[in-house]
Amino acid sequence: MFDKNNRHINYLRISITDHCNLRCQYCLPENNNSFSNNTDLLTADDIEKIVRATSLIGIEKVRITGGEPLIRKDFLEILKKINSIEKIKKIAITTNGFNLSNNLNEFSTNGLNRINISLDSLKPSKYSEITRGGDFFQVMKTIEQASLGQFERIRINVVIMKGINDNEILDFVNLTKELDIGVRFIELMPIGEGKQFISMKNSEILDIIKAKYTLEKDSVDKTDGPASYYKILNFKGEIGFISPLSNRFCEHCNRIRVTSSGFLKLCLHYNQGVDLIPYLKSNISTEELAKIIKSAIYNKPKEHQMNCNSQDKTIETKRMNEIGG
Ligand code: GTP
Ligand code: 5AD
Ligand code: SF4
Repeated sequence: MFDKNNRHINYLRISITDHCNLRCQYCLPENNNSFSNNTDLLTADDIEKIVRATSLIGIEKVRITGGEPLIRKDFLEILKKINSIEKIKKIAITTNGFNLSNNLNEFSTNGLNRINISLDSLKPSKYSEITRGGDFFQVMKTIEQASLGQFERIRINVVIMKGINDNEILDFVNLTKELDIGVRFIELMPIGEGKQFISMKNSEILDIIKAKYTLEKDSVDKTDGPASYYKILNFKGEIGFISPLSNRFCEHCNRIRVTSSGFLKLCLHYNQGVDLIPYLKSNISTEELAKIIKSAIYNKPKEHQMNCNSQDKTIETKRMNEIGG
């Protein structure tokens, strides 16, 4: 479907839990005590109903997010349910890599096409420091295994913070030499704990890379997110940039989000949307739910205002782990 600004909306990001096994410094406080009760999360049936409803109005790609989505014990059941929906052509996940390596084959057989893995340092001790306890070797092993074949695309998300990991940019680029993966630099957004760190503009990162390599523009899939991609000659993988701050991409936005508590979010930056829980509780039909979602999407905000110091009450105050990025 199209919204009132004529944007083609075909991509749903659904956060299936706000819980996480890590505490990345720019995402969560060390002693986070604001996770929701498991009973307040969407059930596997709720998730299936929401995805089915959105598929009736043109959603073709679903990205399962968190928190850490693989923390859910019923993840496979959720994946199978989404995979049973005919109009959904692509299923993707964004994960920190936890609990993935033993399940790669099963997830692939049940329809998972693409995996994005968060990795902010290639130095084991720095990785553990940023994530407050993550095991670098385990994530790296998973990335290598996953890149070997059965998935359409494996991408790494890297958030560069000045003074923390900005000395690793070329090391990340080098990963794409031998591994057929995408390495994507995401500009740190002033959301949640992210406000406490100094972000690095992707144009600065690009300059550092261009000083060493010649980059060729790479094409993108029509359901893809806001990244722009480049390749280095003879390197197997690709390099991507997601630049919400320096290059606002809202004009081409193709997505909606559902938070782990069942709230349909129309834009990452705003709290506007619809609480789907009362509808799900009232046993509404999938077609009726689709109508409600459709009329909300029509009014999707035109663009974010993250660069402005606005006091607007509609600005989102939820953390990334609830929204799912
Ligand atoms: P693919 O294109 O399918 O790989 O997906 P993606 O880039 O949308 O997915 P991913 O979950 O890996 O997103 C990475 C990060 O990009 C998100 O967590 C956000 O930080 C950022 N991002 C994605 N979509 C948007 C958006 O619509 N607005 C803003 N401001 N940031 C976004
Ligand atoms: N700014 C940019 N990216 C963020 N992520 C989490 N918080 C922020 C933020 N404030 C990223 C994670 C993960 C993805 C889901 O969102 O690194 O890759
Ligand atoms: Fe967990 Fe992702 Fe937040 Fe890190 S960024 S604490 S992996 S939800």
